[in-house]
Amino acid sequence: MKTLKDLFVHTLQDVYYAEQQIVEALPKMIEKAEANELRNVLKAHLAETQTQVERLEAVFEMIDEEPATEICEGVDGLIEEAEELMDEVDDRSVLDAGIVASGQAVEHYEIARYGTLAAWAAQLGLTEAKDLLEETLEEEKRADRLLSEIAVQNINRQAA
Ligand SMILES: [Fe+2]
Ligand SMILES: [Fe+2]
Repeated sequence: MKTLKDLFVHTLQDVYYAEQQIVEALPKMIEKAEANELRNVLKAHLAETQTQVERLEAVFEMIDEEPATEICEGVDGLIEEAEELMDEVDDRSVLDAGIVASGQAVEHYEIARYGTLAAWAAQLGLTEAKDLLEETLEEEKRADRLLSEIAVQNINRQAA
């Protein structure tokens, strides 16, 4: 990698991999979640995540690159931790609090990545790509906010 454009493409591949792993991981989290509002937030975000994968494919097309993945150890680690937690916590209410926490860790990871990608796209003059990346960034921020809200309103109290 030599240029900012190279780094942009590399990071795009990393997040393209991450989103696909998240599409695979969310159904298990939905299945394990007890609280309706948690299941609903996760289900809605699964649908958004599928759209986010398509948005990344559109960004690849805008820069004339074939969509390709780069293994992202960061997201693999976060998902592995979530899976371990789901196997280890027996109490359903406590598990919900853990699922929220795992979900938020993933959202924060994505917020970091999409914030960077949108800034690089702007710097590289890729305005349309920047707009698409910011659209996803806003969805990640909203998912994070919703998880915080349901945790504070109900899930943490149930768990305590
Ligand atoms: Fe995402
Ligand atoms: Fe997300």
